[in-house]
Amino acid sequence: PRNNRVRIVEVGARDGLQNEKKTISTDTKLDLISRLAKTGLRDIEAGSFVSPKWVPQMATSNEILESIIKETPDSKYPINYSFLAPNIKGFEAAMAVLKAAGHTARPDAPKIEFSVFAAATESFTQKNLNCDIATSLERFKPVIQGAKDAGYRVRGYISTVLGCPFEGYDVDPHKVAEVATDLLEMGVDEIALGDTTGMGTAPRTAELLRAMTAAGIRNEDMAMHFHDTFGQALVNTAVSLEHGIRTFDSSVGGLGGCPYSPGATGNVATEDMVYFLESLGMDTGVDLDAVADIGAWITKEIEKPNSSSVGKAVLGR
Ligand code: HMG
Ligand code: MG
Repeated sequence: PRNNRVRIVEVGARDGLQNEKKTISTDTKLDLISRLAKTGLRDIEAGSFVSPKWVPQMATSNEILESIIKETPDSKYPINYSFLAPNIKGFEAAMAVLKAAGHTARPDAPKIEFSVFAAATESFTQKNLNCDIATSLERFKPVIQGAKDAGYRVRGYISTVLGCPFEGYDVDPHKVAEVATDLLEMGVDEIALGDTTGMGTAPRTAELLRAMTAAGIRNEDMAMHFHDTFGQALVNTAVSLEHGIRTFDSSVGGLGGCPYSPGATGNVATEDMVYFLESLGMDTGVDLDAVADIGAWITKEIEKPNSSSVGKAVLGR
């Protein structure tokens, strides 16, 4: 039978907000997360345990994590809440919150996940993590191991898979497959392929996914994370669907940008992703009107234009 189910990972509360210059209150972030939890989304990226000097906006991720555990947002379904942790320092900070709140990975507890984040190019890795690719992978090892030992799922991002802000279009798909293979061998449960710059095109997405398959990486172990800077995200989503990928990241209102990718705009909007996937007869489980309302609300709240075409269209403005 045809598999129509598609998983959408909502990254607005992390990728969407991390680049905002103006401090967004913890209450607003928690409000965003609890609104998202009522839309049918089952995967919500909620924060990032990184250096507050590097990414000040994510400095309150400990409060976000604590609140999610203690006052789990209402939802009809269990939701996976994920947090980035690039090194043992970030992982230990997150684990301290989890332990203090008495959280274990029990079936009835809110589900917490960790994400490590690598890249396919050396120059982006230097700018983003202040080290080379090999060192970044070494630093992920204790994070992945510690998370797995404690029963938490781990995602492994790879940035710059279809272009690099410092090295241009020429990113070798075999390098992406090599980093993915390393991450999977280290124990990550899923690879998220990031088109950080939004430079990706349909043929290059197809080429990348062929290289991943040729390297033995299974479609069910991959997610696509498209930024929409060049407006190609949904085209590349179509190519990925055709290849058999069934997990896609997006951010409500099209919020976002990477602090270490100059000029990069937000992720593809969740509203646009849901509309597109449902138009193809895929089942996202997400209520389009509800996410459109949230996109309008949060963009107004942080004084940013709503960059979701679908969101604006369904709301008639
Ligand atoms: P560094 O300066 O080399 O780190 O930065 P260090 O180990 O030398 O430590 C320097 C200071 O940072 C020390 O504090 C550490 O304690 C502290 P000080 O003694 O100066 O007061 N520190 C930390 N504090 C809190 N949490 C931590 C942590 N680690 C060290 N985890 C580091 C290395 C990795 C910390 C830094 O480069 C960093 O934080 N980078 C994060 C960059 C980032 O968050 N980028 C955005 C996320 S990735 C992304 O958006 C792409 C993605 O969306 C996919 C895509 O679109 O492609 C995922
Ligand atoms: Mg991103």
